[in-house]
Amino acid sequence: MIFAHVNFLTNKKLTYFFIRDIIGQVVNGTGKDMNAKQQIAELLENSGENYISGSAIAEKLDITRAAVWKCIKQMEDEGYEIEATKRGYRLGERSDALSRSAVLKYLGEDSSYYNIEVFDVIDSTNTYLKKKAPSYFSGNPENKTGNGAQWYVAIADSQDSGRGRMGRCFVSPSGTGIYLSVLLKPSLSAQQAVKMTTAAAVAACRAIEECTDKEPKIKWVNDVFVDGKKTCGILTEASVDLEGGGLDWAVIGIGFNVYEPEGGFPEEIKDIAGAIVKDKRRDLRSRLAASFLKGLREICSDLKAKEFASEYKKKSFLIGKNINVLRDGEKIPAFAFDLDDELHLLVRYEDGSEEALNSGEVSVRER
Ligand code: BTN
Repeated sequence: MIFAHVNFLTNKKLTYFFIRDIIGQVVNGTGKDMNAKQQIAELLENSGENYISGSAIAEKLDITRAAVWKCIKQMEDEGYEIEATKRGYRLGERSDALSRSAVLKYLGEDSSYYNIEVFDVIDSTNTYLKKKAPSYFSGNPENKTGNGAQWYVAIADSQDSGRGRMGRCFVSPSGTGIYLSVLLKPSLSAQQAVKMTTAAAVAACRAIEECTDKEPKIKWVNDVFVDGKKTCGILTEASVDLEGGGLDWAVIGIGFNVYEPEGGFPEEIKDIAGAIVKDKRRDLRSRLAASFLKGLREICSDLKAKEFASEYKKKSFLIGKNINVLRDGEKIPAFAFDLDDELHLLVRYEDGSEEALNSGEVSVRER
């Protein structure tokens, strides 16, 4: 079978095709052994405001107290804020290290739907899952059941080759954001694939609303704004079965700028990019990641639901605005007058002609 990789937001077919590897390897990220640091993180997360002594940790993990101390120091370097007193250790109020155990804790009973790996650093979570995709679905019939299947989730504290739309890079520094991708097998045609992106935008808004006091807005198609600045970007990539017209798999990747990086956002994005909140909050990144995953799964269980489309529309801030449609390096002035039920942006050009945009790039026009 032949598949083409398509980036749905650029509508650009990437230049390669591949023959699917029929005997693939089943990938399972849930059964990984935890190292000492991860186990200490889990102990501290679960003990909440109570202190745990160094000797209790050492005994539980069967390591020396000096090894515990070394791990604690390394964890502090990685962004954990740990209070150390005579009574022992506990996580500080502003400790917000992204960890697998915390994401699982906040997913609660829903955690069984996901196969989650968390990385300190990775090239790109989208690239990672795209490489896993053919074998993940071919070797495991359980995973072929669409929405009933386990979603493979890769989350990273930082990316050194984070990718954005239109071939741009996505700045992904450590300690301040969430870089998260989901590999799934949606029952959608290639034309409907943009729905996944809109679903992710709504799920991101719901997560931000649930975990903070902010009121996020969506800039069609897939940018989430808080206080007038872009705080989340979404990149959806998929493999299309050219014979059947459906999607063989899709990777939905989202980057959240939760806090401002030390020294601020880089010059080239500082006018556009913003952070969701100012100050660190306990477990906020893990809470946001879990809430996003729950919301996305709920929305993807019925992408035709009217409520989802109307929620998207309500949160969309382009309707009624003068915009530029960016096409082939050109800016075409238009007026965005509505979104249809398929969430196409309805625009009217200056010559009076109208178009329903399926994907692409637009910008708000300054008057
Ligand atoms: C954009 O705004 O242009 C889209 C940005 C998408 C970034 C996310 S971060 C997680 C995933 N991994 C990537 O390399 N990109 C996406």
